[in-house]
Amino acid sequence: MEAERPVASHQLSLRDSETCQKYILAVKKANQEKREETGRSPRAYVLTFGCQQNEADSEKLAGLASEMGYEKAAHPDEADLIIVNTCAVREHAEQKALSIVGQYKHLKARNPELVIVMCGCMVTQAFRQNEIKHNYPYVDIVFGASSMFRFPQLLWEHMEKERRLIIPDEETYLVAEGLPVRRNSTYRAWVSIMYGCNNFCTYCIVPYVRGRERSRSKEDIISEVEELVKQGYKDITLLGQNVNSYGHDNQDGVDFADLLALIDNIEGDYTIHFMTSHPKDATEKLIDVIASGRHIAHHFHLPLQSGSDRILKAMNRHYDAQHYRKVLNYLRQRIPDVTVTSDIMVGFPGETEEDFCDTLAFLAEARFDMIFSFIYSPRKGTPAAEAADQIPPEVKSDRFSRLLQQQNEISLESNRRLVGSTLRVLCDGPSKNDPDVWSGRTDGNKIVFFDGSREDIGRFLTIRITRAEAFALYGEKESHG
Ligand code: 5AD
Ligand code: SF4
Repeated sequence: MEAERPVASHQLSLRDSETCQKYILAVKKANQEKREETGRSPRAYVLTFGCQQNEADSEKLAGLASEMGYEKAAHPDEADLIIVNTCAVREHAEQKALSIVGQYKHLKARNPELVIVMCGCMVTQAFRQNEIKHNYPYVDIVFGASSMFRFPQLLWEHMEKERRLIIPDEETYLVAEGLPVRRNSTYRAWVSIMYGCNNFCTYCIVPYVRGRERSRSKEDIISEVEELVKQGYKDITLLGQNVNSYGHDNQDGVDFADLLALIDNIEGDYTIHFMTSHPKDATEKLIDVIASGRHIAHHFHLPLQSGSDRILKAMNRHYDAQHYRKVLNYLRQRIPDVTVTSDIMVGFPGETEEDFCDTLAFLAEARFDMIFSFIYSPRKGTPAAEAADQIPPEVKSDRFSRLLQQQNEISLESNRRLVGSTLRVLCDGPSKNDPDVWSGRTDGNKIVFFDGSREDIGRFLTIRITRAEAFALYGEKESHG
């Protein structure tokens, strides 16, 4: 069987792809035969590292596995197929994935029929593929972030020919439509609207591992959201590395603000979130659409990265602090109850104490509700990793803790302002740490703890906020929202 090759368009439609379907059926048949032999259904375990985009991809990998006859494994010990979907954004995520895969060696020794797959951003890099080839001989199949649709074919070939398949990622210009999805939640859903990134921030590996920007068609996105709303999904997050450049590569002139407005027209009881926005492309038009929307969360995640213009320039971010300030002011003026969150990085090469203090000063002024903070991690092949003036680890971690300390005070103050108000909260059920306390999230993605009951799960509740901490709100249930 030959792999299907894309033609002129970047849209590869798997709905119409008999080839992919053929491999799905071939694996399914092999699994059925095994089940008849052993009396046990094969099981698949999916482990995900990294961002929401990876979570969304993993739901598709799980969907493909399910179509191929695998049940869900609760633990790698009981799996016949293990899929590790990796991340490359920071060194820590890479080392963790490698160390966990290292632990699977003994599972393979116990069950030689176990198939171990590594895919996603980390293994799109040629040097990681080489490393796995030589140091992790029990990993059977490796493919990159853009080759997910080839998974059934690779699995079938591996089963047939019993050989390892480590394939370089070439097809970075594809949008695979129609892949089956096995969603982890019945009320929160991810919808990728585009893939890849064209921005080449100098610290970031994403453009190298996820390729150039490709937007899905508005028709495909709208029908996916309509279907989710029909199924009762309450919280839908539109995903892209930079959603603001959605549609630049499509012919229909629909930009992200237009897309959001079209989605907002869908009738139903649901909320739309989106991430991530690049400050250089966050337009007033987009902010106006959010302000007048009926279903669009009053939440904006807008990564600043640094408050120093010098560092922003070295990062190739194409905006300065003043531009960011203008976007933020317009956002708050048009949507007074908006929750604003950001990503901040410390220890970028050449960052001086003065640059770092510019970041602290900007945060003190911007008063974000919450930030995701990162220590710069050099990524092989990116320009910043080659810079001579890398920051020593102890300086990075000192800046990191000062950043957290300052932001904790700001987050606490922002949460305290909500005490006494009532908020709409989507209930997730018992919290991880204490099953007697229930948790949910506000439209601004703040976590709220309260006394709940089973039937609240997946429903919007009205919660009166009674107490605030830097990372959480506490409240009492008033009613169903
Ligand atoms: N080191 C540390 N943080 C990084 N990010 C991206 N690349 C790196 C890196 N090399 C952070 C950015 C981005 C977030 C998703 O991850 O802040 O916004
Ligand atoms: Fe990375 Fe910058 Fe693209 Fe975000 S916009 S994925 S930080 S290159």
